[in-house]
Amino acid sequence: MGGGGTPAGSRCHGWGGAVHTGWKPVPPSRPQAHAGASGLFPRCAWRGGACGVRVGLYPVVMPSNPHQQKPNPHQQPPPRIYLDNAATSFPKPQAVLRAIVEYSTQNGASPGRGAYAEAVAGAAVLRRCRERLGELVGAPALVPPEQVIFTLNCTDALNLAIHGTVAWWKHHRPDEPIHIVSTAMEHNSVLRPLTHLAAQGVRVTRVGADADGLVAPGEVIDAIRPETRLVVMVHASNVTGTVQDVGAVGRACRERGVPLLVDAAQTLGHLPVDVETMGIDLLAFPGHKGLMGPAGTGGLYIRPGAEDRIEPVRHGGTGSRSESDQQPTDLPDRFEAGSHNTLGIAGLLAGVEWVLERTVDAIRRHEVGLIETFLDAFPGESAGYRLHGPTDPTRRVGVFAITHERLAPGALALALEARAGVLGRAGLHCAPGVHETLGTTKTGGACRLSVGPCTTTEDIRAACACLAAISAQAGTLAGQEDRGSSTQPASV
Ligand SMILES: Cc1ncc(COP(=O)(O)O)c(C=O)c1O
Repeated sequence: MGGGGTPAGSRCHGWGGAVHTGWKPVPPSRPQAHAGASGLFPRCAWRGGACGVRVGLYPVVMPSNPHQQKPNPHQQPPPRIYLDNAATSFPKPQAVLRAIVEYSTQNGASPGRGAYAEAVAGAAVLRRCRERLGELVGAPALVPPEQVIFTLNCTDALNLAIHGTVAWWKHHRPDEPIHIVSTAMEHNSVLRPLTHLAAQGVRVTRVGADADGLVAPGEVIDAIRPETRLVVMVHASNVTGTVQDVGAVGRACRERGVPLLVDAAQTLGHLPVDVETMGIDLLAFPGHKGLMGPAGTGGLYIRPGAEDRIEPVRHGGTGSRSESDQQPTDLPDRFEAGSHNTLGIAGLLAGVEWVLERTVDAIRRHEVGLIETFLDAFPGESAGYRLHGPTDPTRRVGVFAITHERLAPGALALALEARAGVLGRAGLHCAPGVHETLGTTKTGGACRLSVGPCTTTEDIRAACACLAAISAQAGTLAGQEDRGSSTQPASV
């Protein structure tokens, strides 16, 4: 997690000696820098509602010194092309922003903490959000709303599932061994909890992946032993975009009575997910990526009954059963101690509804189109580039890990931003096992570009054209490698 690298942390590139202090939305009067290309989703729908207006970023410029030249107000700021949706989606739909403002200005209550109308209305927002999330992950009738637990982010959901499962076995079966199966493609939000638990005696088997980042389901299934308490795997890699055959693993896990935890950080909202047909017992997801909600939101879906083998990892107030000093056993209170991020959940509800209205299938079609455009326009090996991960668009999501034979990933990311305002990230992306698999650990990882529902084909073409121009000047830029690799932070 973390890793910094937010746009506000970037440096100024020009602008008359001014210091780039942050970012603000492009004002409504500014025409769209590159028109939306999708006929499926009119530009105004994708780009935040105001027809013909690009909702994007431009630098907020403050003079670093009053004697320095002021920025020229007539000078157009460079266009910003946000291709860091794997970290968090941007821009957020206007409906999400409205829902947050409306909740803060017109309600403000903490749900479950009072019987007055606003608190009751707040509880209804939470419930509605659980219901709509249930629709996203499977048939709503099969997903009772209380089986959706709100968390801080996807990391928090994964920690609850992993630590909660191990805690249950340690508490209820202290003499029995605990074994967990995982893969080489995991994010640190899985890897680090498992490493921490391994130091306490939990046995972990990590199944490898091929050069495209694909894990063979049979190898995961073969790694399951009688003492396996959990299988945990990522649905799609946040580095290579590789989509794993989670359904094949899930069905085998069901037959063996072993719970499957899936990290859907890069797929929920981007790819159809059906927890029942895919045999998923636990699904961890962020609210702030494919679901278009604000930062600080996420959740864990728990298959009915699976909660019986998960201990709470956090204890505290729930607004219910206040007479007891024990954590309630019923859901969702069992796993939701403390006041909710109500503003965030109000925004998340609007984001989930935005996704459901457009449909995940249509979003997937839009993103497959972007992947095809990228694969077509990417300058490729003749220009010194390598794209890691599958070349079949149906086997990947729109996350592209790029390396260049002469340029460090950090220098590449800096050049993309400086030349065309393309915002990507360089580094290991919190997935060291993936870079071991790709052989990119010692060379600074990869430069990652990632699409979202608001990305257009023009964005992709502009990024690929910039990559081509950069490779043509790779000799000059290679001199900047040190600067690039040391200043570009590793990303999540
Ligand atoms: C595959 C994967 N898993 C987990 C996470 C952690 O998500 P969050 O930042 O919501 O905690 C990320 C974040 O990028 C991710 O890409």
